[in-house]
Amino acid sequence: MRWMIWGIFLAVSMCAEEIDPKWQTNENCEACHANISGSWETSRHSNSHYSKNDLYKKTIDYMVTQKPTLIADEVKVECAKCHNPRITKKSMNTEDKIMLTMGDDEKTKDYTKTLDALHMKNGINCIVCHNVDQIHLDKSKGSGGLNSVTFGPQGTMFGPFADAVSPYHKTQQRPHYEQDSPDLCFVCHYSANNHNGLEVYATGKEYDSLGGNVQGCKGCHMSDKESGFASNYASLGDKPKARMVRKHRFTSVDNSNILSRYTEVTAKNDDKQLDIAVKNNSPHKIPTGYGLREIVIEVKFLDSNEKLIEEKRVTLGSAWKDQNGKNTIPYLATTLASDTRLDGMSSKTYSFEIPKGAKYAKYEIYYKLVNDEFAKAMGVSDAFFLKKYIFTEARVVFDLVKK
Ligand code: HEC
Ligand code: HEC
Ligand code: HEC
Ligand code: HEC
Ligand code: HEC
Repeated sequence: MRWMIWGIFLAVSMCAEEIDPKWQTNENCEACHANISGSWETSRHSNSHYSKNDLYKKTIDYMVTQKPTLIADEVKVECAKCHNPRITKKSMNTEDKIMLTMGDDEKTKDYTKTLDALHMKNGINCIVCHNVDQIHLDKSKGSGGLNSVTFGPQGTMFGPFADAVSPYHKTQQRPHYEQDSPDLCFVCHYSANNHNGLEVYATGKEYDSLGGNVQGCKGCHMSDKESGFASNYASLGDKPKARMVRKHRFTSVDNSNILSRYTEVTAKNDDKQLDIAVKNNSPHKIPTGYGLREIVIEVKFLDSNEKLIEEKRVTLGSAWKDQNGKNTIPYLATTLASDTRLDGMSSKTYSFEIPKGAKYAKYEIYYKLVNDEFAKAMGVSDAFFLKKYIFTEARVVFDLVKK
């Protein structure tokens, strides 16, 4: 009898409930939440499944080739904690691991079915964020994704309003959607360690290190509260209810001007050097989050005929090493070898010596979603991840040509 109870307990704790087709994707919500659904689709949250994200997919492939003891599906289940937290398997047990390693067909199919479910492919979608009844994040352990929340009954949408009424679903108010609270974001964006216990994400920690008195995440990454409506649905002859709402853009470098908006760049020079000052007005490092992002300051010195004399660059980013001291990706690293990212709410001046004969300098500051070395090593091919996101370009004319 006791064994049976344990058996049931294990089955429950390792498997979460299947998602009812009524709530699986944003298409279930689109008709009545058209604006919200449309802007969410432009965000990276809608691309968090490996089938829609070349960098994420190639990262998993790379991990498995570099470390053959890892099984791809096991890594996928592990990463899904945050990347697809409505996954119905929370972890992989030893028996499944053995069967998958032996190439068992049924098991392989079973995992593919779980990992490629429709709601999973839909990414960090409406049902991920709006079915969160309670948050119990332990900051000392970091973000646990699905392990840091209790999902409510399916069909209840939790949100910021106490008086919302919908014909399609139940509604309930919860504090984590209200005002400026970053708690919901921290479920996945606080911090996390890799298998070697090395911290590879720390956006929320960076934010906390400023000691409060900074705005939460939504004002910059959604929008300020503005007048609009939560649903375009209205009963016959009625109008949608006017509400103060935010945009669901989850703005990042690729779908907004967020960097030029919250960084200030100023350049000045004397006859010896050009100083470029960068001020970070965000409450976390830039770049933050994923550990292979880079901000590059590139300066070209030209002579009076516009001929290139010299090119210099400085990179804001981090470098990761494995136990053999070789450069690697964050997920396989044992040490953070260097970190030149700019701290939250801080500024730094980068100085470049002016070469002889220079009459002009052209500088550009751009953002890379993944550094070139590892984009190449992992075989990332989607242009979205390879291109430069230029957010500042300027030209300086020197009064005197340096002799
Ligand atoms: C990453 C988490 C996240 C995702 C994904 C998400 N939402 Fe939201 N949603 C929020 C937060 C936070 C708020 C509260 C915003 C505020 O302060 O008004 C919110 C508010 C709302 C509101 C109330 C109106 C408002 O702006 O306050 C509705 C309705 C809503 N979301 C529907 C949706 C739908 C439909 C989807 C899928 C297309 C979706 N949400 C996806 C986090 C999310
Ligand atoms: C048939 C129309 C309809 C559909 C379909 C629909 N909703 Fe709603 N929803 C509404 C209405 C109406 C409201 C209330 C708006 C108001 O009071 O301003 C609402 C409110 C909400 C709220 C705010 C709840 C609160 O208490 O703050 C959330 C969150 C939400 N819906 C999420 C979703 C999600 C997620 C889906 C898809 C799985 C969905 N809705 C599908 C009509 C719909
Ligand atoms: C369930 C986990 C989860 C929650 C909750 C969550 N995020 Fe995310 N977020 C992610 C993941 C995973 C990605 C990366 C998706 C990708 O690029 O494939 C991401 C990406 C982003 C990005 C884009 C970064 C980029 O790669 O360009 C922004 C901005 C962002 N989230 C902000 C927020 C904010 C603000 C909140 C709170 C309202 C929030 N997120 C809540 C998991 C989450
Ligand atoms: C004052 C505006 C501001 C606030 C507040 C803010 N951010 Fe950001 N965030 C930015 C800027 C600017 C960037 C672009 C630079 C970068 O990618 O690091 C950014 C980038 C990010 C990224 C990475 C995007 C990418 O492309 O990799 C994530 C994730 C993120 N923020 C999460 C958060 C979270 C979580 C919070 C709340 C704790 C927050 N941000 C608060 C301005 C802000
Ligand atoms: C604790 C939650 C969490 C876990 C677990 C997690 N991630 Fe992430 N991941 C995030 C967040 C949050 C972001 C967005 C940060 C940003 O964009 O800078 C992200 C972004 C990424 C990105 C960049 C995606 C893009 O579109 O640019 C890759 C690649 C990635 N994660 C790979 C992985 C892999 C591989 C695993 C498993 C070994 C994993 N992650 C586990 C939270 C998590």
